[in-house]
Amino acid sequence: HVVLSPNLTSCHGSLTDGDRPIYCCPPKRESEERFIDFQFPDSSSPIRIRSPAHLVDKEYIAKYNKALTIMKSLPYEDPRSFLRQAHVHCIFCSGAYNQLHTNFLLKIHRSWLFFPWHRMMLYFHERILGSLIGDDTFALPFWNWDNPEGMFIPDMYMNGSFLDSQRERSHLPPQVADINFDYVERGLDPEDQIEANVAFMYHQMVSGAKKTELFMGCPYKSGEEGFCDGPGTIELAPHNALHTWVGNTQNPEYENLGAFYSAAKDPVFYAHHSNIDRLWDVWRGFRGNSDINDPDWLDSYFYFYDENAQNIRIRIRDVLDTTKLRYAYERTDNSWLNARP
Ligand code: C2O
Repeated sequence: HVVLSPNLTSCHGSLTDGDRPIYCCPPKRESEERFIDFQFPDSSSPIRIRSPAHLVDKEYIAKYNKALTIMKSLPYEDPRSFLRQAHVHCIFCSGAYNQLHTNFLLKIHRSWLFFPWHRMMLYFHERILGSLIGDDTFALPFWNWDNPEGMFIPDMYMNGSFLDSQRERSHLPPQVADINFDYVERGLDPEDQIEANVAFMYHQMVSGAKKTELFMGCPYKSGEEGFCDGPGTIELAPHNALHTWVGNTQNPEYENLGAFYSAAKDPVFYAHHSNIDRLWDVWRGFRGNSDINDPDWLDSYFYFYDENAQNIRIRIRDVLDTTKLRYAYERTDNSWLNARP
């Protein structure tokens, strides 16, 4: 068994990145028997269009705010509730599940599981939000931090249900993000920081990501020797870097966004990952880049609760075509493409 999947009955206490004990398991023991295999949404259902968070209008923000407020008010027993959603991320980042058949811990960061697993998480999260307000066109926004126009925490995340009190104060908008932040303030002028960000994007997306493994991360398979610890370019930064940059430096692990176990409690997490998911699609569109074709990757599977609170088993091969998943990204200027040094 080289394919990865969690043993759902195994959820147990786990450790944060800082090695502190944490418990994120569902209230009731989950069973392997009770799941439905994933089915694509009807091909006639509307395409949900994900837009840049710095460009969405008032109506959209009000709609999303309503959906998120409802999600946050659901009881913890409900797998669609916001805290349960955040805990799914905690479970998979901190090793709260064992792997099926082997008992080694299962983790979804720092390897080729990174892109597809987060795509799945966002897919179900988005559908749950939409269903809570009866809107099957509802789409998450994306934090367009690779675009000079979007290189700060989007303003919408400073209000209502989108606010998170645990963010680094000196990094709130309009502070330009350092998308390659490494715990040290660079103190650049906004224009210089933007220029550095754009050049860095070119490296992470183009010159440093010419081989599939460099971009996607290392092959991680089930078993003792399986864990490889080789994140792809984008996962390392801007992904990790922005987690750290947003989180509160006063907290031991830069919670909320700065620590994986708490990251998904900050609503901006979903916009951050929406952009990462978009960049995966952008990278796949470049000539010469190709998907992983190893069946161990394609057949690895996970479980997520859908908008009907049903447990769904979904394989990586199910999430490679976003049109089949019925969502797409609004076009935005990938200006870093022209930033070849
Ligand atoms: Cu699963 Cu951005 O972390």
